[in-house]
Amino acid sequence: MADRDRVFAGSIPKLYDTLMAPLIFEAYAADMAALVAAFSPDSVLETAAGSGVVTRALAPKLSADACYVVTDLNQPMLDYAATRQGSDRRIEWRQADALDLPFEDAAFDVVCCQFGAMFFPDRVVGYAEARRVLRPGGRFVFSVWDRIEENAFADDVTTAVATVFPDDPPRFLARTPHGYHDIALIRGELRRAGFATIEIETREKVSLARSARDAATAYCQGTPLRNEIEARGKLDAATDAAEAAIAKKHGSGAVAAKIQAHVIVAVA
Ligand SMILES: C[S@@+](CC[C@H](N)C(=O)[O-])C[C@H]1O[C@@H](n2cnc3c(N)ncnc32)[C@H](O)[C@@H]1O
Repeated sequence: MADRDRVFAGSIPKLYDTLMAPLIFEAYAADMAALVAAFSPDSVLETAAGSGVVTRALAPKLSADACYVVTDLNQPMLDYAATRQGSDRRIEWRQADALDLPFEDAAFDVVCCQFGAMFFPDRVVGYAEARRVLRPGGRFVFSVWDRIEENAFADDVTTAVATVFPDDPPRFLARTPHGYHDIALIRGELRRAGFATIEIETREKVSLARSARDAATAYCQGTPLRNEIEARGKLDAATDAAEAAIAKKHGSGAVAAKIQAHVIVAVA
């Protein structure tokens, strides 16, 4: 993974939240909130919380005296998340690397992390940190995207943007968000981190955007793919190519396509 794959800053947090989150993250966030709330936790740590899509879904489901610590590596994402969240004394916002958590052992009932693990440079270290801060019997609930071929817009965008840079195609989407989907590998890394009881469910959903332009802008400008395109120039041309490819395949009005992810619950 390139270092810039982890940089969610500048124009990215706002475009991520306004275009990407409704496109592919909100539907899974509702599921994650229900899954976490079903454990009736008194204390929750969220890692890689991004612009707060899970936080907004989960906070209303937690008890009135729950403690909810919401963290991310990139402060600009947390800053944006905080602007979207109403005042809530149960929530503490804190910048933190999921691989080096600034919390005591056994401090939480649940650690949740939606679509963050693919960005960890060492997953076993990240999982071991989640386990360390969980009380015995606590749950680590997280999700990762399935392979890019199961996620139509991401695949379309990657193919289309490659035509703009044929000698050096940006591969962020395939390499990082869709680069960690092997269930046997995920189980093996969780076991190496000390988790013994692991459940994995693959969930298909539908991704919806108002237009091909919105979907193209979301991927090309609201994710770290933007960093990779800007390093080569031609951000507008790359977005135009992605829009044309999505419109050709999915239509010129509102567009819909398949997305698919793995949802994992591991018991500490
Ligand atoms: C695809 S976003 C997911 C954000 C959010 N969970 C959601 O569902 O919309 C990935 C997030 O992982 C964060 N991230 C990347 N590396 C991280 C790390 N080592 N520790 C914590 N967060 C990290 C990024 O800042 C980004 O906000």
